[in-house]
Amino acid sequence: MSRSFEELVAEAVAEPIDGWDFSWLDGRATEERPSWGFQRLLSRRLGEVSAALDLYTGGGEVLAGVDKFPPTMAATESWPPNAAKATRLLHPRGVVVLQTRGEPPLPFADNAFDLVSSRHPIAVWWTEIARVLRPGGTYLAQHPGPATALELIEAVMGPMPELGAHMEPSVQAAQAEAAGLQVVDLRLETLTSEYYDIGAVVYFLRKLIWTVPDFTAEPYLTRLRTVHEHIEAHGRFVTHPTRVLVEARKQL
Ligand SMILES: C[S@@+](CC[C@H](N)C(=O)[O-])C[C@H]1O[C@@H](n2cnc3c(N)ncnc32)[C@H](O)[C@@H]1O
Repeated sequence: MSRSFEELVAEAVAEPIDGWDFSWLDGRATEERPSWGFQRLLSRRLGEVSAALDLYTGGGEVLAGVDKFPPTMAATESWPPNAAKATRLLHPRGVVVLQTRGEPPLPFADNAFDLVSSRHPIAVWWTEIARVLRPGGTYLAQHPGPATALELIEAVMGPMPELGAHMEPSVQAAQAEAAGLQVVDLRLETLTSEYYDIGAVVYFLRKLIWTVPDFTAEPYLTRLRTVHEHIEAHGRFVTHPTRVLVEARKQL
């Protein structure tokens, strides 16, 4: 027998959301990954440089998955539980994790790095990225794209016609170029994500707290119940995350 709306929501609300482990969603939700394989791209690039920085490293899981670090490898993280987790994971491999306030200035000198990377940053400070890159250095990142997971956000918040317009690839490219970076690769992919019960939706929105800003279930119970009924009727709720691969080079 399927579990009730109340039971599923209560379970998801009680679940701890610290750290950056999504295994609670196994079998309850899926998210397709971009075809370019960001971790593989990053791993290759890190093998070719001598000083690199990863911004918004989270719990360090993506960085920890690469084969070999350059002699100088730093990462920044602003959320204290993740900064602690990333340090535990990355320090034994010689990576220094700096807990920052998540806004400029970055705690590094000009021209400090050959490579700056980031996957799913919550903000992109283009002029700071350009400042800490050495001339000829590279920014390699996977950003959230325009209207990412729009169906899910609108189901919870109502119509959002302008959602993520500033994450359009053309807007991102213009900002990069204005900061003195030359965009050498820019790709957009629209992916598929599926939720098989309302508890998975609630857990996801609590964990990715910027999706529906400052989300808690209580104010959204009516709309969440509509999503629950949709899942009961169709077996799933489908939404489409968008991702942008950006590679940009600082002018020599
Ligand atoms: C989407 S995460 C990406 C982390 C990592 N780069 C990755 O790809 O797995 C972006 C940033 O949000 C932070 N973050 C995650 N959960 C948070 C929360 N509940 N409150 C504040 N920041 C959070 C992460 O620690 C990280 O710095």
